[in-house]
Amino acid sequence: MIGYKIIKFDIIDSTNNYMKKHISSLEHGTMVIANEQTNGRGRFGNTWISEPGNLFLSILIKSQEFKDNIFDLHIKTSVVILKLLQVYNISAKIKYPNDILVHNKKISGILVEKIIYESETSIILGIGINVNQVDFCDLKYKATSIKIETNKFVDLDHLVTDFITIFNQKTSIDNLYKEYLDHSLLLDKIVEYKNKKYIIKTIKKDGQIVLKNKEETLVIDYDRLSLSHLYANL
Ligand code: BTN
Repeated sequence: MIGYKIIKFDIIDSTNNYMKKHISSLEHGTMVIANEQTNGRGRFGNTWISEPGNLFLSILIKSQEFKDNIFDLHIKTSVVILKLLQVYNISAKIKYPNDILVHNKKISGILVEKIIYESETSIILGIGINVNQVDFCDLKYKATSIKIETNKFVDLDHLVTDFITIFNQKTSIDNLYKEYLDHSLLLDKIVEYKNKKYIIKTIKKDGQIVLKNKEETLVIDYDRLSLSHLYANL
Protein backbone atom coordinates (compact mmCIF):
# COMPACT_ATOMS: atom_id res chain seq x y z
CA MET A 1 0.00 0.00 0.00
CA ILE A 2 1.16 3.50 -0.72
CA GLY A 3 0.15 6.97 0.42
CA TYR A 4 -0.23 6.47 4.19
CA LYS A 5 2.46 9.07 4.68
CA ILE A 6 2.62 12.11 2.39
CA ILE A 7 5.31 14.77 2.68
CA LYS A 8 4.39 18.00 0.89
CA PHE A 9 6.57 20.86 -0.26
CA ASP A 10 5.65 24.15 -1.80
CA ILE A 11 8.92 24.20 -3.71
CA ILE A 12 11.83 21.75 -3.84
CA ASP A 13 14.65 20.88 -6.24
CA SER A 14 13.26 17.43 -7.09
CA THR A 15 10.95 15.09 -5.19
CA ASN A 16 13.10 12.15 -6.34
CA ASN A 17 16.24 13.89 -4.96
CA TYR A 18 14.54 14.49 -1.61
CA MET A 19 13.60 10.84 -1.38
CA LYS A 20 17.09 9.71 -2.31
CA LYS A 21 18.59 11.87 0.48
CA HIS A 22 16.20 10.48 3.11
CA ILE A 23 15.85 6.94 1.82
CA SER A 24 17.04 5.20 4.98
CA SER A 25 14.56 6.95 7.29
CA LEU A 26 11.46 6.74 5.08
CA GLU A 27 9.09 3.77 5.00
CA HIS A 28 7.71 1.87 2.05
CA GLY A 29 4.85 3.71 0.38
CA THR A 30 5.84 7.22 1.52
CA MET A 31 4.94 9.87 -1.03
CA VAL A 32 6.65 13.20 -1.60
CA ILE A 33 4.69 15.85 -3.48
CA ALA A 34 5.77 19.35 -4.49
CA ASN A 35 3.84 22.26 -6.00
CA GLU A 36 6.93 23.26 -7.91
CA GLN A 37 10.38 21.79 -8.65
CA THR A 38 13.48 23.82 -9.47
CA ASN A 39 15.46 20.84 -10.78
CA GLY A 40 12.86 18.31 -11.92
CA ARG A 41 14.56 15.38 -13.63
CA GLY A 42 13.40 13.17 -16.47
CA ARG A 43 14.88 10.07 -18.07
CA PHE A 44 18.23 10.23 -19.87
CA GLY A 45 19.25 13.26 -17.77
CA ASN A 46 16.54 15.43 -19.31
CA THR A 47 15.02 18.31 -17.39
CA TRP A 48 11.38 17.96 -16.37
CA ILE A 49 10.03 21.50 -16.49
CA SER A 50 7.99 21.79 -13.31
CA GLU A 51 5.58 24.70 -13.14
CA PRO A 52 2.98 25.02 -10.37
CA GLY A 53 -0.45 23.57 -11.10
CA ASN A 54 0.91 20.19 -12.19
CA LEU A 55 1.60 17.03 -10.20
CA PHE A 56 5.17 16.21 -9.14
CA LEU A 57 5.23 13.08 -7.08
CA SER A 58 7.68 10.45 -5.83
CA ILE A 59 6.81 7.17 -4.17
CA LEU A 60 9.21 5.01 -2.19
CA ILE A 61 8.97 1.32 -3.01
CA LYS A 62 10.70 -1.02 -0.58
CA SER A 63 8.49 -4.08 -1.04
CA GLN A 64 9.91 -7.22 -2.60
CA GLU A 65 7.06 -7.26 -5.15
CA PHE A 66 8.83 -5.04 -7.69
CA LYS A 67 12.49 -5.56 -6.80
CA ASP A 68 12.77 -8.82 -8.74
CA ASN A 69 11.11 -7.52 -11.89
CA ILE A 70 11.31 -3.77 -12.06
CA PHE A 71 9.40 -3.70 -15.36
CA ASP A 72 6.29 -4.77 -13.41
CA LEU A 73 6.45 -1.34 -11.82
CA HIS A 74 6.64 0.35 -15.23
CA ILE A 75 3.58 -1.67 -16.27
CA LYS A 76 1.62 -0.98 -13.10
CA THR A 77 2.38 2.75 -13.00
CA SER A 78 1.57 3.27 -16.68
CA VAL A 79 -1.78 1.52 -16.31
CA VAL A 80 -2.59 3.38 -13.07
CA ILE A 81 -2.06 6.68 -14.89
CA LEU A 82 -4.23 5.52 -17.81
CA LYS A 83 -7.00 4.70 -15.33
CA LEU A 84 -6.53 8.00 -13.50
CA LEU A 85 -6.93 9.87 -16.79
CA GLN A 86 -10.07 7.84 -17.57
CA VAL A 87 -11.64 9.44 -14.46
CA TYR A 88 -11.42 12.69 -16.47
CA ASN A 89 -12.71 10.97 -19.63
CA ILE A 90 -9.28 11.12 -21.21
CA SER A 91 -8.21 8.16 -23.28
CA ALA A 92 -4.42 7.81 -23.27
CA LYS A 93 -1.79 5.55 -24.83
CA ILE A 94 1.56 4.24 -23.64
CA LYS A 95 4.73 5.18 -25.42
CA TYR A 96 7.04 2.35 -24.45
CA PRO A 97 8.43 1.97 -21.91
CA ASN A 98 6.40 4.41 -19.84
CA ASP A 99 5.50 7.77 -21.31
CA ILE A 100 1.79 8.52 -21.35
CA LEU A 101 0.45 10.28 -24.43
CA VAL A 102 -2.86 11.81 -25.44
CA HIS A 103 -3.34 12.58 -29.13
CA ASN A 104 0.37 11.87 -29.54
CA LYS A 105 1.32 14.55 -27.00
CA LYS A 106 2.96 13.77 -23.68
CA ILE A 107 0.78 14.19 -20.61
CA SER A 108 2.82 12.22 -18.10
CA GLY A 109 6.32 10.83 -17.58
CA ILE A 110 7.68 8.24 -15.19
CA LEU A 111 11.20 8.03 -13.78
CA VAL A 112 12.10 4.76 -12.06
CA GLU A 113 15.34 4.87 -10.04
CA LYS A 114 16.83 1.85 -8.30
CA ILE A 115 18.83 2.79 -5.20
CA ILE A 116 21.07 0.43 -3.24
CA TYR A 117 21.78 1.74 0.25
CA GLU A 118 23.56 -0.37 2.88
CA SER A 119 22.87 -3.44 0.71
CA GLU A 120 19.10 -2.81 0.73
CA THR A 121 17.48 -2.15 -2.64
CA SER A 122 14.74 0.47 -2.88
CA ILE A 123 13.00 1.99 -5.86
CA ILE A 124 12.08 5.63 -6.20
CA LEU A 125 9.13 6.02 -8.51
CA GLY A 126 8.92 9.58 -9.82
CA ILE A 127 5.81 10.70 -11.68
CA GLY A 128 5.07 13.97 -13.40
CA ILE A 129 1.55 14.65 -14.71
CA ASN A 130 0.68 17.77 -16.66
CA VAL A 131 -2.51 18.87 -14.96
CA ASN A 132 -3.48 22.56 -15.11
CA GLN A 133 -0.78 23.97 -17.39
CA VAL A 134 -2.19 25.37 -20.63
CA ASP A 135 0.83 27.05 -22.17
CA PHE A 136 3.77 24.81 -23.07
CA CYS A 137 5.59 27.41 -25.22
CA ASP A 138 8.15 25.56 -27.40
CA LEU A 139 6.69 22.20 -26.39
CA LYS A 140 3.17 23.04 -27.50
CA TYR A 141 3.11 20.40 -30.24
CA LYS A 142 4.63 17.80 -27.93
CA ALA A 143 2.89 18.28 -24.58
CA THR A 144 -0.65 18.42 -23.30
CA SER A 145 -2.40 18.53 -19.91
CA ILE A 146 -5.67 17.42 -18.33
CA LYS A 147 -6.84 21.05 -18.47
CA ILE A 148 -6.11 21.32 -22.20
CA GLU A 149 -7.90 18.04 -22.91
CA THR A 150 -10.99 18.73 -20.78
CA ASN A 151 -11.11 22.51 -20.48
CA LYS A 152 -11.61 22.06 -16.75
CA PHE A 153 -9.44 23.06 -13.79
CA VAL A 154 -8.39 20.03 -11.74
CA ASP A 155 -8.03 20.02 -7.96
CA LEU A 156 -4.62 18.45 -7.26
CA ASP A 157 -5.64 16.99 -3.90
CA HIS A 158 -8.52 15.11 -5.56
CA LEU A 159 -6.17 13.89 -8.24
CA VAL A 160 -3.72 12.58 -5.64
CA THR A 161 -6.50 10.84 -3.70
CA ASP A 162 -7.73 9.14 -6.89
CA PHE A 163 -4.17 8.17 -7.79
CA ILE A 164 -3.61 6.52 -4.40
CA THR A 165 -6.94 4.66 -4.58
CA ILE A 166 -6.20 3.30 -8.05
CA PHE A 167 -2.59 2.42 -7.22
CA ASN A 168 -3.67 0.50 -4.13
CA GLN A 169 -6.28 -1.57 -5.99
CA LYS A 170 -5.27 -5.20 -6.02
CA THR A 171 -5.13 -5.97 -9.72
CA SER A 172 -3.05 -8.95 -10.80
CA ILE A 173 0.08 -8.20 -12.77
CA ASP A 174 -1.30 -10.40 -15.59
CA ASN A 175 -4.32 -8.11 -15.96
CA LEU A 176 -2.17 -4.99 -15.76
CA TYR A 177 0.16 -6.43 -18.40
CA LYS A 178 -2.79 -7.10 -20.70
CA GLU A 179 -3.98 -3.49 -20.30
CA TYR A 180 -0.44 -2.27 -20.90
CA LEU A 181 -0.22 -4.17 -24.20
CA ASP A 182 -3.73 -3.12 -25.23
CA HIS A 183 -2.74 0.54 -24.89
CA SER A 184 0.81 0.32 -26.23
CA LEU A 185 1.65 2.32 -29.34
CA LEU A 186 4.54 0.02 -30.16
CA LEU A 187 2.93 -3.20 -31.32
CA ASP A 188 2.95 -4.08 -35.05
CA LYS A 189 5.28 -1.19 -35.86
CA ILE A 190 8.08 -1.80 -38.38
CA VAL A 191 11.62 -1.21 -37.11
CA GLU A 192 15.10 -1.64 -38.47
CA TYR A 193 17.63 -3.58 -36.43
CA LYS A 194 21.15 -4.38 -37.69
CA ASN A 195 20.09 -3.35 -41.23
CA LYS A 196 17.12 -5.73 -41.33
CA LYS A 197 13.42 -4.89 -41.07
CA TYR A 198 11.25 -6.48 -38.39
CA ILE A 199 7.75 -6.14 -37.07
CA ILE A 200 7.36 -5.60 -33.30
CA LYS A 201 5.36 -8.65 -32.21
CA THR A 202 5.10 -7.98 -28.50
CA ILE A 203 6.66 -6.58 -25.36
CA LYS A 204 7.58 -9.30 -22.89
CA LYS A 205 6.61 -9.04 -19.23
CA ASP A 206 10.21 -8.25 -18.35
CA GLY A 207 10.28 -5.34 -20.82
CA GLN A 208 12.18 -7.02 -23.64
CA ILE A 209 10.89 -6.48 -27.16
CA VAL A 210 10.12 -9.38 -29.52
CA LEU A 211 10.95 -8.70 -33.19
CA LYS A 212 9.94 -10.95 -36.07
CA ASN A 213 10.51 -11.19 -39.80
CA LYS A 214 10.20 -14.03 -42.30
CA GLU A 215 13.55 -15.51 -41.28
CA GLU A 216 13.78 -15.11 -37.53
CA THR A 217 12.39 -14.00 -34.21
CA LEU A 218 14.61 -11.91 -31.94
CA VAL A 219 14.25 -10.87 -28.31
CA ILE A 220 16.15 -7.71 -27.47
CA ASP A 221 16.51 -5.10 -24.76
CA TYR A 222 14.81 -1.81 -25.50
CA ASP A 223 17.98 0.24 -25.33
CA ARG A 224 19.34 -1.65 -28.35
CA LEU A 225 16.60 -0.33 -30.60
CA SER A 226 15.97 3.20 -31.80
CA LEU A 227 12.25 3.84 -31.52
CA SER A 228 12.10 7.61 -31.85
CA HIS A 229 10.97 7.56 -35.50
CA LEU A 230 7.89 5.57 -34.49
CA TYR A 231 6.35 8.40 -32.57
CA ALA A 232 5.36 11.25 -34.87
CA ASN A 233 6.50 14.65 -33.60
CA LEU A 234 7.96 13.36 -30.31
C1 BTN B 1 10.38 11.45 -18.11
O1 BTN B 1 9.39 11.46 -18.83
O2 BTN B 1 11.51 11.60 -18.59
C2 BTN B 1 10.20 11.23 -16.64
C3 BTN B 1 9.74 12.49 -15.93
C4 BTN B 1 9.59 12.31 -14.43
C5 BTN B 1 9.30 13.61 -13.73
C6 BTN B 1 8.96 13.41 -12.29
S1 BTN B 1 8.29 14.86 -11.55
C7 BTN B 1 8.42 14.14 -9.96
C8 BTN B 1 9.72 13.37 -9.92
N1 BTN B 1 10.81 14.22 -9.51
C9 BTN B 1 11.69 14.43 -10.49
O3 BTN B 1 12.70 15.15 -10.43
N2 BTN B 1 11.32 13.73 -11.58
C10 BTN B 1 10.10 12.99 -11.36
